[in-house]
Amino acid sequence: MFTNDLLKGKRILITGGGTGIGRAMAERFLQLGATVYICGRRVEVVQQTAKELASATGGTIEGLPCDVRERDAVEQLIEQVWTKGPLDVLVNNAAGNFLARTEELSPRAFESVLGIVLQGTINMTMACGKRWLVAGHRGVVLDIATTYADTGSAYVVPSAVAKAGVVALMRSLAVEWGGRGIRFVAIAPGAIRTEGAFSRLLPTPELEKKLLEHNPLHRFGTLEEISNLASFLISDLAGYINGEMVYMDGGEMLAGASTFSLIGRRIPDAAWEMMKPKKKTE
Ligand code: HXC
Ligand code: NAP
Repeated sequence: MFTNDLLKGKRILITGGGTGIGRAMAERFLQLGATVYICGRRVEVVQQTAKELASATGGTIEGLPCDVRERDAVEQLIEQVWTKGPLDVLVNNAAGNFLARTEELSPRAFESVLGIVLQGTINMTMACGKRWLVAGHRGVVLDIATTYADTGSAYVVPSAVAKAGVVALMRSLAVEWGGRGIRFVAIAPGAIRTEGAFSRLLPTPELEKKLLEHNPLHRFGTLEEISNLASFLISDLAGYINGEMVYMDGGEMLAGASTFSLIGRRIPDAAWEMMKPKKKTE
């Protein structure tokens, strides 16, 4: 469907691009001709991924360390990227999440997830947006949200709150900045197998099975499917799509909202105990 020059000349930053969905999008964008930057907290992960994807695709990619929660670090990263030229696309993909009973969450547990997902997205969007507006440079922001951003979801409450904020930001700025050349889009993926998500949210085969039974297509989404959807949405082919969140969940939402409400209620007490974070001294 896509020609290999679909994203030619586009300079794209993907937060959390060292692993999972971010990594898969980076690979696809490189195949389609983009120059890609990826960032994450673990420098060795982003650099290793950049090395592997450069050699697999022959494209230009750089892995840079950055904690998106830290506004100064974000400013530094964006400044560094901008010295080589303005970005054209920002993909807010970095996230933190875990399955937990809300009454057991510490204040830091909330802060951690809200910091990565919501504040991180705000930091990145502001750093790029201000530069684009001053220069009159066209830009696209793609946010990777979740299906439960619109409905909330039990047992992943910090994530649900933060993702709802991300979607509100996306829809608001689509109107405020749309006329000044900055387009906003989001994807609400259903479950896609990645180590980061499944180890924290679907840690047993039984939980996976429950989710698959509930999904009309009885399968998870794939990295290829989300990477292709992301490529289309950030490309000029989708130039009139602004402020829209595309669900890519096999119809799961229509079959009953709020992913983890469905499975969390069936988790026994002993399993909740096992999923609690290990003490740092252990
Ligand atoms: C309760 C938990 C917890 C858990 C951590 N915490 N895990 N509380 N249950 N399972 C608490 C800790 O006890 C601590 O509070 C606070 O959260 C911060 O934890 P740290 O480990 O110190 O923080 P940090 O190193 O910043 O790690 C952030 C993280 C971690 C979010 C906790 O999981 C992470 O790095 N995640 C990044 C990758 C990720 O989550 N990927 C999945 C995305 S999938 P105290 O008070 O003890 O100090 C997704 C959508 C999937 O978002 C949807 C599928 C359908
Ligand atoms: P993942 O592999 O764990 O990806 C999360 C990435 O975010 C990691 O590379 C992580 O790298 C980075 N990150 C976390 N905290 C960060 C911080 N403070 N600063 C910078 N980077 C940070 O999980 P994934 O499944 O690919 O998730 C990617 C996106 O898809 C997330 O937005 C998630 O909410 C969304 N999503 C996933 C699913 C799914 O089923 N997989 C479903 C719905 C939505 P470091 O640890 O090195 O920082």
